[in-house]
Amino acid sequence: MCSTAKNKGNCVEYTDSGLPKIAIGFEVNGDRFEKHVDPTMTLLQLLHNELKLFGTKEGCGEGECGACSVILNGKAVNSCLVLAAEADDATILTVEGLGQGNELSILQQEFIKYDALQCGFCTPGMLMSARSLLDRQPNPSDEEIKEAIAGNFCRCTGYVPIIEAIRSAATREREALI
Ligand code: FES
Ligand code: FES
Repeated sequence: MCSTAKNKGNCVEYTDSGLPKIAIGFEVNGDRFEKHVDPTMTLLQLLHNELKLFGTKEGCGEGECGACSVILNGKAVNSCLVLAAEADDATILTVEGLGQGNELSILQQEFIKYDALQCGFCTPGMLMSARSLLDRQPNPSDEEIKEAIAGNFCRCTGYVPIIEAIRSAATREREALI
């Protein structure tokens, strides 16, 4: 529950519907969870209220801004539009799972290097859309990068540094495989 969360300023509240709970099992960032969830709870609310993972942000809450993007079974989705119950048996990656311990991923490093964030509110979602792209297309064109982040709004950067950061991360990730 947000009210008991240390980070409650970032927590997306939900109102329990009173309907019978649904048992789900799922994996987030490599950890397995079993939960009983309200049928009206969204995946974003699940991440905040049940798992205390606050990196994923809520902007619009209605599928327009991409701030809440996570990777669900290999695909970037707006977690504000996915019901928690739909995560049964799913594998989920959030921004907290991108790095290794305290070490940032190459993609995160390139966002910093290229000043691809200012206020940072869009960054978790932007990173997850970029991660999803690089997982399916390790050598994306600029058009493919633009298409991948088309659903992620950024009010600060003008997008150019974000595209440069993703392009550079793709190059570094390919070089790391050689
Ligand atoms: S908060 Fe989910 S798309 Fe805007
Ligand atoms: S860095 Fe501020 S909205 Fe993107």
